[in-house]
Amino acid sequence: MNPTRRAALAGGFALAACGGDGVSASQKGPAAPSRLAPFKDRAAFPVGVAAMTGQLAEAGWSGLASTHFNRLTPEWEMKMEAFLGEGDRLDFSRADRICAWARTNGAEVFGHTLVWYAQSAPRFERLNGSRRGFAEAYRTYIHDVAGRYRGQVTGWDVVNEPIADDASGQLRDCIWSRNLGQTDYVRLAFEHTREADPDAVLFLNDYNLETNPRKLDGFMRLAETLLEAGAPLTGLGTQTHADCALPDGAIERTVRRLASLGLKVHVSEIDVSTATGRPERQGAIFAEAAEAMAALPAEQRFGVTVWGVRDSDSWLRRADWHRPPQPDTPLLFDDGGRPKASAQAFGDALG
Ligand code: XIL
Repeated sequence: MNPTRRAALAGGFALAACGGDGVSASQKGPAAPSRLAPFKDRAAFPVGVAAMTGQLAEAGWSGLASTHFNRLTPEWEMKMEAFLGEGDRLDFSRADRICAWARTNGAEVFGHTLVWYAQSAPRFERLNGSRRGFAEAYRTYIHDVAGRYRGQVTGWDVVNEPIADDASGQLRDCIWSRNLGQTDYVRLAFEHTREADPDAVLFLNDYNLETNPRKLDGFMRLAETLLEAGAPLTGLGTQTHADCALPDGAIERTVRRLASLGLKVHVSEIDVSTATGRPERQGAIFAEAAEAMAALPAEQRFGVTVWGVRDSDSWLRRADWHRPPQPDTPLLFDDGGRPKASAQAFGDALG
């Protein structure tokens, strides 16, 4: 049995031994709040949450999401594999359901994501290497998707995770860069999106910017290159998939660096894993994100988006392409939907 699998199983046994949330009684932080004022009523900016169609009709999720959040980011439904999964016909049905829920519940929708190194589709694989055809298909896809959601989304992660996750600070090599040019695929994506939607805030988005200085430097260099080329880049997003070992001030320094270009800033996917570091630090880390956003000039505060409502909703708890399910408590509400102490800390910091 491989070590990862063994650790996960051991984690599962440990999970059972300490009340099912992966945190032993001695590690638990302060008691959870009995009543929690809605986040969205306390913040000087939108407070978002990741959403999937399978959650919308589930009362536990829907009640918390509509009470505390005023922006949804589809966790999967606006990605290329959701729109083009079944061959070559654009399927908007899943994303439309999330937009409908948002309208009913008075929330905005944030589009995530038009171009990502991690996903492609048959129509592009077939055109791989034929530059003109590829460029036309790229433009058509972005126009078709961004055009459909014009007026329904307030912004897009136009290009997601463009920088290599190593010490190089270089741009990733991907099907988009190989066919359209290393930075040209990024510039073109912004131009095509703006052609289709004149109003949305257009973001470049990446992760580990708080913990990898070279990656943050590369991200900022790319943003400056795009601006110098006249690309309609109007926002910078830091995903902030953190853990409890994240040093104090890391989020604040990153948000301040991103804001130095004068664009809008989005803490776009925050979760704080308790599998690493001291779990009682989780609230302080969420609070730092809220305070860093609140400290920005009003016109740059795009908002903070939490990557899930309850711990059980977290992607970190789901098996996926490279790991079995993990015991973790990375979000603000526990598996039963009860607010944790970190929810109180986050809410207090929003104001
Ligand atoms: C993740 C989703 O949360 C998972 O449900 C899905 O299986 C894989 O993608 N950075 C991103 C997000 O920009 O799109 C990823 O979302 C998490 C990392």
